[in-house]
Amino acid sequence: MASVAEHYGRGGRLAERILALAGEAEGAPGRRLTAADLAAFDQLHPRGRFATDEIAGLVDWRGLARFLDLGCGLGGPARYLAERQGVPAVGVDLTESFCADARALAAATGSDARFACADATRLPFADASFPLVLTQAASMNIPDKAALYREVARVLAPGGRFLLHDIQLGPAGAPHFPVPWAGEPCQSHLLTPDAQRAAIEAAGLRCALWQDRTAEVRAAVEAQRRAAAEARAAGRAPPPGAHSLQGPEFREMAANFARNLAEQRIRVTTALFTAPEAGTGK
Ligand SMILES: C[S@@+](CC[C@H](N)C(=O)[O-])C[C@H]1O[C@@H](n2cnc3c(N)ncnc32)[C@H](O)[C@@H]1O
Repeated sequence: MASVAEHYGRGGRLAERILALAGEAEGAPGRRLTAADLAAFDQLHPRGRFATDEIAGLVDWRGLARFLDLGCGLGGPARYLAERQGVPAVGVDLTESFCADARALAAATGSDARFACADATRLPFADASFPLVLTQAASMNIPDKAALYREVARVLAPGGRFLLHDIQLGPAGAPHFPVPWAGEPCQSHLLTPDAQRAAIEAAGLRCALWQDRTAEVRAAVEAQRRAAAEARAAGRAPPPGAHSLQGPEFREMAANFARNLAEQRIRVTTALFTAPEAGTGK
């Protein structure tokens, strides 16, 4: 039985390969790479940087001192948003090799992002220390949702914002495994959308927006699979992306992801929650 960190760390260090792949893109050779240049390779969630832009557009970034990305993976979304919004990022992840890669990629792109290797249910930060917390496609691996959202509420400043882009259990029952977030069922801890929203509200946060994105993810996954099949039929390699880094086993995981979406075994949601203002409890 592999741990969650073993599942994500199975490919070893990835930073050098990401920099090499991004450096081959049109217009990249001969100049320093930016966080945006890496976005096709280092954003490990459905719809990549499009979904990151979508949740980022739900809040006003002006004047924010910093933000926290929980379960930040290789740090792609954290670096991308730090660069795009001009706000320093802090990322936290359980997988040591991802944290090491996140730091290496921040150094390579001159990013204002730092990374800590920690469990999102026991954060190494003081109370009320972030005006904005976000998380994308990480809660699926975390069994203790009450502890996770208690920590989010604890580190959020009064009136702070919590952005979520996450995968949930659909109405048709358990997903087929392996999937990108879990090689084995014991690594996966999905809630239904209603249960997840209730768990976040139970931590004291108020839901300002809750949007089902399953149809958009399905369309994007189908378009990507069509493009890959067309490339193969024409004797070309499919375009490189985050999938290129995740070993031969990722093909079955990606196929199950598409099947789980089609069979309504998983859903995808974006959401915005707010922390109570100081002294109001609201
Ligand atoms: C599918 S990846 C998404 C990474 C990143 N959010 C992104 O969108 O690129 C899920 C990440 O959650 C991390 N993770 C899982 N359980 C965690 C926990 N308890 N605390 C911190 N990170 C965790 C994994 O190590 C992995 O990097």
